[in-house]
Amino acid sequence: MEKKWDFETLLIHGGLEPGPAGATTVPIVQSSAFAYDSADALEDVFRGRRPGQVYTRIGNPTTESLEKRLTLLEDGIAGIVTASGMAAISTAVLTILRSGDEILSSSSVFGGTFSLFRDTLSSYGIGVRFVDPTDLKAVREGVGERTRLLFVETIGNPKMDVPDIAALAEIAREAKIPLMLDATVTTPWMARGKDLGADLVVHSTSKFINGSGSAIGGAIIDLGRFDWGGEKYPHFAPFVKKFGRFAFTARARKLVHKDLGACAAPMNSFLLAEGIETLALRMERHCSSALRLASFLREHPKVRWVNYPGLPDSPFQDIASRQFGGRYGALLTFGLPDKEAAFRFINALRLARNLANIGDAKTLVIHPASTICCDYTPEEKALMGVTEELVRVSVGIEAPGDIVGDFAQALEQV
Ligand SMILES: Cc1ncc(COP(=O)(O)O)c(C=O)c1O
Repeated sequence: MEKKWDFETLLIHGGLEPGPAGATTVPIVQSSAFAYDSADALEDVFRGRRPGQVYTRIGNPTTESLEKRLTLLEDGIAGIVTASGMAAISTAVLTILRSGDEILSSSSVFGGTFSLFRDTLSSYGIGVRFVDPTDLKAVREGVGERTRLLFVETIGNPKMDVPDIAALAEIAREAKIPLMLDATVTTPWMARGKDLGADLVVHSTSKFINGSGSAIGGAIIDLGRFDWGGEKYPHFAPFVKKFGRFAFTARARKLVHKDLGACAAPMNSFLLAEGIETLALRMERHCSSALRLASFLREHPKVRWVNYPGLPDSPFQDIASRQFGGRYGALLTFGLPDKEAAFRFINALRLARNLANIGDAKTLVIHPASTICCDYTPEEKALMGVTEELVRVSVGIEAPGDIVGDFAQALEQV
């Protein structure tokens, strides 16, 4: 029945059971483990013969409610909520790849993902090849003998490039590998990965899904499209045999998620479930204010360039319009003459906050080259689209005129 509700209704009611004593919010089940009144009952739960929770590292009722809601919103078949967006990406990737395998990744991914793939996973024998996700020829040629996953962000953070996801899905299908989308920046409100042909979606729920910067979280949604029985994935064979199309989620939950231990705290799942209720309203405002601010900056004499897919002169406007239904998100980047000017601008802001996050109700700015990307070489920064004069903005939902006014007065001081 729930699948029939519209998106905005699912944001509020999806996966929500009536609470104790008529409670209308999901109960925070702050319990590490769950007791059963017989040894047989606990054995049945462990063996999957009856539903139930065992231990919060593996599953928790508060977290499960959020998993159901996110799965409904993405029109997936199953979901796993994790401690953070990075936990979601690590868990999903380690479920699919083994030592000797390779990820074909967009080069314009979030810095943490770049370093996970390039540094952390490579020291365990999982390789990565970075390609420009908007260069379909390069992506096609990047698929090698050992490639087992194609990974892209729906809008690159902070490069702001927009890949043609349906075309990438086609390449993945031909190569018989799954396409995993990091849809943190777009959320299911702007586009559902399934409609674009993806096989798996990951989110940092710390951003727009939470909406007020009050909890870190992540999620993996299995869209149920990929055949895990293929010869490239022999390690899935027992899971395909036992769980069929749920093989990915079964291997993730029973093995990698359980063993890595990056589970969500029940309190955070509660905060995320509260936050997501207003996602549609917030995203609408984020998008309209970001377009307004981008247009203002585009005309400002002190601004060298603006990167926002909603601007008519953006090379990504066409594909973004098609993929995201005329919505372009909250993130934009712009260039001032140099790093000193960028610092002067940030220091002069009165309303926007200078911090390392996106997706908050508040307008946020950062100078990525000196902060989130400070450990990368100039070549790596260039690959990620990060230059010294670049300022990244996550446009909030304050009164749009106040946001523009704050930027205008700060630009005067550049
Ligand atoms: C696109 C994207 N993916 C993943 C992450 C990592 O998420 P988290 O900070 O929740 O681990 C971030 C964080 O900024 C992000 O922007």
